[in-house]
Amino acid sequence: MSEPTIGVFEVEERTFPPAPEFVANANAGDRSLYDEADADYEAFWSRQARDLLSWHKDFDQVLEWQLPFAKWFIGGELNVSYNCLDRHVEAGRGDKVAFHWEGEPGEKIALTYAELLTEVKKFANVLKGLGLQKGDRVAVYMPMILELPIAMLACARIGVAHSVIFGGFSADAIIDRCDDATARLVITADAGYRRGAAAPLKSTVDEALGRGAASVEHVIVVDRCGTDPEMTTGRDLWWHDLMADASDDCPAEPMDAEQLLYLLYTSGTTAKPKGIMHTTGGYLTQVAFTHKYVFDIKPDTDVYWCAADIGWVTGHSYIVYGPLTNGVTSVMYEGTPDTPGKDRLWDIVERYGVTQLYTAPTAIRMFMRWGAQEPAKHDLTSLRVLGSVGEPINPEAWMWYHEHIGGSSRPIVDTWWQTETGGHMITPLPGVITTKPGSACGTIPGVFAELVDDAGNPVAVGGGYLTITRPWPGMLRGIWGDPDRYRDTYWSRFEGRYFAGDGAKLDEDGYLWLLGRVDDVMNVSGHRISTTEVESALVDHRAVAEAAVVGANDEITGQAIVGYVILRGEYEPSAALGDEIREHVGVKLGKIARPKTVIIVPDLPKTRSGKIMRRLLSDVANGRSLGDTTTLADPGVVAEIAERAQAGEED
Ligand code: WTA
Repeated sequence: MSEPTIGVFEVEERTFPPAPEFVANANAGDRSLYDEADADYEAFWSRQARDLLSWHKDFDQVLEWQLPFAKWFIGGELNVSYNCLDRHVEAGRGDKVAFHWEGEPGEKIALTYAELLTEVKKFANVLKGLGLQKGDRVAVYMPMILELPIAMLACARIGVAHSVIFGGFSADAIIDRCDDATARLVITADAGYRRGAAAPLKSTVDEALGRGAASVEHVIVVDRCGTDPEMTTGRDLWWHDLMADASDDCPAEPMDAEQLLYLLYTSGTTAKPKGIMHTTGGYLTQVAFTHKYVFDIKPDTDVYWCAADIGWVTGHSYIVYGPLTNGVTSVMYEGTPDTPGKDRLWDIVERYGVTQLYTAPTAIRMFMRWGAQEPAKHDLTSLRVLGSVGEPINPEAWMWYHEHIGGSSRPIVDTWWQTETGGHMITPLPGVITTKPGSACGTIPGVFAELVDDAGNPVAVGGGYLTITRPWPGMLRGIWGDPDRYRDTYWSRFEGRYFAGDGAKLDEDGYLWLLGRVDDVMNVSGHRISTTEVESALVDHRAVAEAAVVGANDEITGQAIVGYVILRGEYEPSAALGDEIREHVGVKLGKIARPKTVIIVPDLPKTRSGKIMRRLLSDVANGRSLGDTTTLADPGVVAEIAERAQAGEED
């Protein structure tokens, strides 16, 4: 076991250099993109914009930077749906499959680029027919069906901004988002399949419109599950009726490079969600570039799969806009990974010959819990690159992904980014960078990050706050309707720097280790300890399947570490085992990081996006007196967690 370094940071000694066979065929097999970007990053991004995208009119200026407001590719004109569709069809690739879509009950549709283009043109005409115009906003509340990307691309075609609302959100969330954006239309479906049942959506829209969202004039409804929802005459319209009469003649309108492409609401530290604004030219450049190089995309042969939901930014950038701009064939799956069996994902990988899989650490830990026998039932050798996103990936999950999914040979790209950044920011390029399990490695070419201390001074080695020092093409252009909040949230903590809200550490080799949100960093007796590192050490114990760590107030030490753990199936909860787990952390990270209390629970409360509800867990921990002990599935704790999670406490 390696010695802990400063604080409780453990040194990771395992390294995984790119395999020579991979490097030989990689889109980026050496450091030349990094060198080019370091020499002149504006020139670098302008080359990417011209190489990767088709412009109706070339831009005359790369960047206008009036801190904190950026404009990229000024004077340029392009259309996102043209870049995603028309140009591939015009180049004779219309018969290529854009999406292999699979419904949860098992239906399969292979939709080609030409077919997708026709649907998008027709739906763009539907939108026009309802009076929607460039600059309007439309809310989209849909399951993972093909009509969702069709709707998004149709909006982009005519300059209407979409605001996709995750299908798991409530009527209140719909009201807040429609009101904030004054959305004129909601596009939805009767329901979508989840775990074998039709989960209703339209009734939630009805509830929202019954109570608020007064700007909404119409609701367009896709009949996904045949659940026969109530339709309000004059307001509600069936997708299939509108499409039956729609013309498929709709040329792509050239848009200004800074035309608003979409809003995506994300929760912050306050209750009101922020409408993150993304525009056209810079956003598309960054998602196309990162998709191509981070996943090493070969459009002629790859079958790429991002197993996220389009309701989150990952789906916007890496299911819809990046893959389609690059003209690759993707898989899109409607349902949950355990329906009908716990090998559903691996079955899909095998059947379609998936070459890139992009998923989240929380999913990987769930797969670990289900056991290696599930992926072992399938041939996964088509996979070439594995991606991770959404939270820090602990080394154990990284190694499991590497061994059991990647056959111990495929590169893993741990991609750090945010709704606000539009695309990847920190991640290895798989043909260039030697990876370390649990590290997102470093910035992509053309992005510049620095860790700083409390006073804003750069940190060379050790822990600090993650900041971005120069504008980047995919950056948010602001918060809808609230420029002051944009400035305050991201640009005021450290002067001249974008503050991401994440803590990180830099190791002696210059590798970045993301440590989670800064509010997840605990302070125990004056030592800064990351919840992530303690969780990682807990999960490292053979009996622990999953762990969540929170700081609880402590009279003596300021904060005390409380670890909630789920045991692997074959272990029985006991006080002795809990104490052994606590000790394990003490040994692995140092005594200071040993949890004061370990609570063994049957389950952990998670948001619909799969993030553990840490604030809830910390409230529960703070609400009772916890000693230096192990608490077994205390029914009171379990009931309180369940109750509060039910009450809908979110991120
Ligand atoms: C976290 C998701 C560590 C981080 C694309 C960030 C990560 C927040 C990683 C953004 C990663 C995302 N390693 N942490 N690879 N990726 N995060 O807006 O805390 O849903 O600030 O965007 O997720 O979440 P968001």
